[in-house]
Amino acid sequence: MTEPRFRLSSPETLGEIFQGSAEGILMVDTAGIIQLANKASEQMFGYAPGELEGKPLETLLPQRYREQHSRHRASFHQAPSPRKMGVGRDLVACRKDGTEFPVEVSLSHHRINNQFIVIAFIIDITERKKAEEAVRRSEEQLLLYAAELERKVQARTDALNKSIEDLEKANHFLQEQIAERKKAEEEVKHALERERELNELKSKFVSIASHEFRTPLSTVLSSASLVMQYKEKGDLAKIDKHVNRIKSSVSHLTNILNDFLSLGKLEEGKIDIAKETLSLSEFLHEIREEMKPQLKEKQTVTLQITGKEKPVSTDPKVLRNILFNLISNASKYSDAGKPISILVTFWENHLDIAVTDQGIGIPREDLKHLFERFFRASNAGQVQGTGLGLNIVKRYVELLNGEIKFTSQEGKGSTFTVILPIT
Ligand SMILES: Nc1ncnc2c1ncn2[C@@H]1O[C@H](COP(=O)(O)OP(=O)(O)O)[C@@H](O)[C@H]1O
Ligand SMILES: [Mg+2]
Repeated sequence: MTEPRFRLSSPETLGEIFQGSAEGILMVDTAGIIQLANKASEQMFGYAPGELEGKPLETLLPQRYREQHSRHRASFHQAPSPRKMGVGRDLVACRKDGTEFPVEVSLSHHRINNQFIVIAFIIDITERKKAEEAVRRSEEQLLLYAAELERKVQARTDALNKSIEDLEKANHFLQEQIAERKKAEEEVKHALERERELNELKSKFVSIASHEFRTPLSTVLSSASLVMQYKEKGDLAKIDKHVNRIKSSVSHLTNILNDFLSLGKLEEGKIDIAKETLSLSEFLHEIREEMKPQLKEKQTVTLQITGKEKPVSTDPKVLRNILFNLISNASKYSDAGKPISILVTFWENHLDIAVTDQGIGIPREDLKHLFERFFRASNAGQVQGTGLGLNIVKRYVELLNGEIKFTSQEGKGSTFTVILPIT
């Protein structure tokens, strides 16, 4: 059996542990008098060695806690059990010089030599508290910082939202402006286009007028001087012939001027439809009479009406212009002696007026251009004209809510049919 190297229970060993402990240890009797204090506790509280012994434990407490503490101590003696003091609240101790510091205390009770003793283990937690405080403060600061950050983010977000809103407004405004400008540009473009067209029309007019007017005017001049000569000779037949020439030249000039006048009015949108109720057969008879001087020798216009004739509500000036154009074309583009016929058919809700000639007809490849302004078919040759009549006719027919159709065979003849609603 070997001796233990040191005896744990030896008074010297225990004494050294007691004295060497880093924790403050105090032994207190039931009266609350400190019986024994180790070095750590003396240093902790600022007392000289041995100075604490014999002092009441409350000496180590700030004045304001002393009375309450002695009551606590009494109740602890009634039901002693090992415990930590001050759980959940901060314990404060008091040094000899009166300065205070935070402590953690645990208690245990013992019966030694029949005497009841409380042992208090005391730790100075100043540093821990400081550290805790620092952590708390930095946590607080972090929270503050986070709050500040959140505030800043919110402020930025608000500012951004505001700028987005502003941008959207600006964008909307710009789009409106662009649309307005586009519209204005479009209008200017349109106006320019129209002006260009009108200018083109004017220059065409000048060139056509100077070309087309020359022949009839010189015919008028020469026939007039011939009339003078035949008057002296008394040749009445020749005089008649030349008077008729003068008449037909003048009516040709009138036709050209009428076309230009009509076109000008159409271009300016100045034509108002003024409807009247009329008897179509009477109206056509009048037109036929009016046209007679313009026809070639031995050209006749026959008139036929089928279906039940009804009064027609239409604009007589416009319809007259349409028929004048169609009949004068039929006459111009067919030879002397070739008949022209007008066939009117009354239907339930509309009527047809078909003007047929046995003239030169229209070449197939020209058909699709027939209603274009200034267009003249390739076989029109020396026949005088402006290429405006059919364009005007089509626009007039449309003003009367009708339509125009035609059939034509080169060398055989043509039929132009105007279809008008009966209201
Ligand atoms: N009845 C017709 N017979 C043959 N050709 C026609 C007839 N009507 C019109 N045309 C052709 O269509 C062209 C256009 O007619 P229009 O517009 O009246 O002009 P224009 O002043 O030449 O008569 C004419 O130049 C002619 O070539
Ligand atoms: Mg014509």
